[in-house]
Amino acid sequence: KKYVILISGRGSNMRSLLEADLPGQCAAVISNRPDAAGLDYARSRGVATAVVDHRQFASREEFDAALAAEIESREADLVLLAGFMRVLTEGFVRRFEGRLLNIHPSLLPSFPGLTTHAKAISAGVRVHGCTVHFVTPALDAGPIVIQAAVPVLDEDSEETLGSRVLAQEHRVYVQAARWFLEGRLSIQGNRVLLAGARP
Ligand code: GRF
Repeated sequence: KKYVILISGRGSNMRSLLEADLPGQCAAVISNRPDAAGLDYARSRGVATAVVDHRQFASREEFDAALAAEIESREADLVLLAGFMRVLTEGFVRRFEGRLLNIHPSLLPSFPGLTTHAKAISAGVRVHGCTVHFVTPALDAGPIVIQAAVPVLDEDSEETLGSRVLAQEHRVYVQAARWFLEGRLSIQGNRVLLAGARP
């Protein structure tokens, strides 16, 4: 099976996916920003890269159409959003429904959207984490594949909490992608079922 990874910046989740030796081929890393740092790493591994610059399109619909065309030209079975910071249109999401995964830096359904670590600290939660989910048209609300929890410490800043969460993102995203590529995930309503034993 083939997968593509969509990024907007640093690309540390992309890097952990590429280093993981997943049971499939990374057909391309695609960025909406030409200067995304992650592109250099992908190139250094000999992975094909592409840029679909959102600033060159007049509307979300036109950007999403170009992005979809780029993904389809790579014949991807799976699309992994990895720090991809554009909200996708319903049309795009429907086109890739069931084969579009996202990593979100909170324990959904708590703290959808941006600045999740600041929100967790100010809410006073003692447990925070990350979620890999299938993408549906509602933002950060699709069926959940896997989550990981970390403690929130009294002395945490956004940065210290964020890096504790990020280490778990790298672990669970690889796990979720592996399960998908092994054909073990199915969606029933809002739940994701995993065939075979959990590790
Ligand atoms: C991650 O925290 C991801 O969950 C969020 O944006 C960040 C991207 O980091 N959506 P990176 O580009 O993978 O390093």
